[in-house]
Amino acid sequence: FYKAFISGKRYLMYLDGLKMTILVSVLAILLGVALGTVLALMRLTAEKKGKSTVLSKIAYVYIDIIRGTPTVTQLMIMFFVILKGVDGLIVGTVTFGLNSAAYVSEIIRAGILAVDQGQMEGGRSLGLSYGQTMKDIILPQAIKNILPALGNEFIVLIKETAILGYVSIVDLSKAADFVISRTYEALTPLIGTAVIYYLIVKVLTLVLNAVERRLRQSDKR
Ligand code: ARG
Repeated sequence: FYKAFISGKRYLMYLDGLKMTILVSVLAILLGVALGTVLALMRLTAEKKGKSTVLSKIAYVYIDIIRGTPTVTQLMIMFFVILKGVDGLIVGTVTFGLNSAAYVSEIIRAGILAVDQGQMEGGRSLGLSYGQTMKDIILPQAIKNILPALGNEFIVLIKETAILGYVSIVDLSKAADFVISRTYEALTPLIGTAVIYYLIVKVLTLVLNAVERRLRQSDKR
C-alpha cells in the first residue's frame, strides 16, 4: 500500500499539499490567537462595565457572523471577492485566521469567566486594579482552561483546512484529489491522506494530554 501511495513522483504532490495544510494551520492559529485575544478583551469590557459596550457589541457581531456562516462560504468570499487574485497561502491563512479568531475569542472569554468571581473581588479588595488583578490573578488560572482548548482549535484547523481545495488551493486533500484524477484510483490516495491526518491529530492529542496533565498537577497545592 505504502509503495502504491507514493509511487511515481506522487509523494512530491502530497508533500507540497501537506506543507500547505500545516503552514495555513500554523499561521492561522497564530493570527487567530492574536485577533481572538483582542475580540475577547473587547467582549469582556461588558463584564467590567456590567452592561454591553460599543466594543463588546462590535466583537459580538463579528463572532456571531463568523460562527453563524460556513467556513467554506467565508473561504469562497475571500478567494473570489475580497482577496481576488491573491496567493493561495495568504487567502487560506487570512480566511482561517479570521475564522479561528471568533472561536478562539470565545475560548479565551469562557476561560476567563470560568475563574471564580471571588478571585476578582479578592484582588480588588487587596487594592489591585482591575488590570493588575486580571493579569496576575485571573489569567494565570484561566490559562488552564484556555491552553487545552486552543490545542483543540489547532486540531480543528488541521482537519478543516481540507476545504482549501474547494477554491483550488492545493493542500493535502487537494493533492489526493489530483492523484485520483490522474490515476483513476481513489482508494489509495484517500486512505493514505486520511492516515496522514490521523497521525498528525494523534500526535497533537498526545502532546495536549501531557500538557493538560501538567497543568492539572500544578493545581494540587
Ligand atoms: N465546519 C464548521 C463550519 O464550517 C467548522 C468551523 C471552523 N471551526 C473552528 N473551530 N475554527 O462552520
